[in-house]
Amino acid sequence: MKKLSFILATLLSITAFSVHADVDTAKKLADKYALIAKNIDPASKGLSEEDGKNFFNRELTIKGKQVACASCHTANPADNGKHMVTGKPIRPLAPAVNEKRFTSIDTVEKNFTKHCNDIITRDCTAQEKGNFIAYLLTVK
Ligand code: HEC
Repeated sequence: MKKLSFILATLLSITAFSVHADVDTAKKLADKYALIAKNIDPASKGLSEEDGKNFFNRELTIKGKQVACASCHTANPADNGKHMVTGKPIRPLAPAVNEKRFTSIDTVEKNFTKHCNDIITRDCTAQEKGNFIAYLLTVK
């Protein structure tokens, strides 16, 4: 419980920087997730872009279907995605090409929780979220 309230406090302190949307904001968010991950698991060696990339492309079988984050967001996060069910276009995830990404912790958390549950049937850990953003930051 103590850990959880710390995490919440840390997360709340992120809410402050939701004004200027750019790569720096995404970097700050990734740093926060790294910090949270470290607090949960002191053995955490910081963020891994490689793990983030594998996580994004990892295919799991959900209700008999092969799905990955890439199913909607495409294998290249700098490209426009397409919703695998509705066919609706999705703007790129990479902050370098879409400055509207990773601007508000609330949106980011909401999307992570929803999509992580869809794909891996649980929320992602702070480590996974941080790795994921670290990977997106490498995509130009
Ligand atoms: C079924 C389609 C689908 C899948 C699969 C999917 N997403 Fe998404 N994702 C969306 C849509 C739709 C949006 C929001 C549309 C928008 O903002 O343009 C979105 C937005 C996001 C955002 C919001 C970023 C921001 O700040 O705006 C994140 C983070 C995200 N997805 C992560 C993931 C991760 C991680 C996975 C894999 C575990 C994943 N998504 C799988 C459809 C999907």
